[in-house]
Amino acid sequence: EAPPLAAAYADYFPIGAAVEPDQLEGPAADLLKRHVNWLVAENVMKPDAIAPAEGTFTWERADRIVAFAKANGMGLRFHTLVWHSQTPEWFFRDEAGQAMADETDAAGREANKKLLLKRLDSYITAVVSRYKDDISSWDVVNEVIEPGDPDGMRASDWYKITGTEFIETAFRAARKAGGPELKLYINDYGTDNPEKRDRLYELVKDMLAKGVPIDGVGHQTHINLDYPSVESITLSMEKFHALGLDNQITELDMSLYVYNDLSDVGPVVPEDILQRQAARYGELFAALRDRKELLSGVMFWGIADDHTWLSTFPTERTEAPMLFDRQHQPKPAFQAVTNF
Ligand code: XIL
Repeated sequence: EAPPLAAAYADYFPIGAAVEPDQLEGPAADLLKRHVNWLVAENVMKPDAIAPAEGTFTWERADRIVAFAKANGMGLRFHTLVWHSQTPEWFFRDEAGQAMADETDAAGREANKKLLLKRLDSYITAVVSRYKDDISSWDVVNEVIEPGDPDGMRASDWYKITGTEFIETAFRAARKAGGPELKLYINDYGTDNPEKRDRLYELVKDMLAKGVPIDGVGHQTHINLDYPSVESITLSMEKFHALGLDNQITELDMSLYVYNDLSDVGPVVPEDILQRQAARYGELFAALRDRKELLSGVMFWGIADDHTWLSTFPTERTEAPMLFDRQHQPKPAFQAVTNF
């Protein structure tokens, strides 16, 4: 049987996995208990899962993940308080039911901004108050940088209605409700990309100068067999570390395909691909062990190849991004990460 993964990393950082509530029983649960000491909800702590209507909260599925983590002595991340996706419409409609982003009148826009920020503050206060004693690391905002959009900020409803004020409000509300012990992160993908990294850096620096309580950067790290380089990943972490911030790898997986390639390896993953994946996972984890002062955790976006968002995104095909295969057996990549 494979040696426990998180135990192998005890002197480095926690190792975690994103989970759905239905994985907390049966074979997936056994695999999780053996190999990880950190969990995050793959979907059930997102705004659409928690708050179907204003002032209405559905905690049950999120609570199950918290209970499982506690029962098994695991830490938790929260993902995510604010995002442009998986967020219910009620946030962005004015009292008359109109889409706030469509408002053109200046006074109307000002009123909408106020209302949206108030809703955000209430939402965050409720969620953080419920889980502050159980969850230490929080994705406060997710994916707000988009170099192709005006000002390098993603043109989400949040941004269109409030500018960057939603980010400020979100972090301040989380700190106020959760206290100084919570670690508050700004999370994004492609943080190795120089353009994106630099825009994120500039934003975080501005926010810190205004006293906005940001503790760290979450790097999703959805990578593939070729991109990005391991050096670009650690370089980005170095830059934020130099700013006095923590880093966490929050959604690690390794696709078998490069971006824009919609091919399929077929039902069985070829051995040479498994070996390339192992070499690259090995290289990444060696660099992270070497530079462990840069980060405080590595979270995988899943645990085994039988359950991964990549098998339908960006198209339906065979994917195998994790360290365990579809039968939950350790892959060459598992050996590469644990043999040191
Ligand atoms: C994904 C989940 O894995 C899917 O089940 C869901 O359908 C869509 O969201 N970046 C993120 C995560 O921040 O929340 C996304 O999770 C994957 C990309």
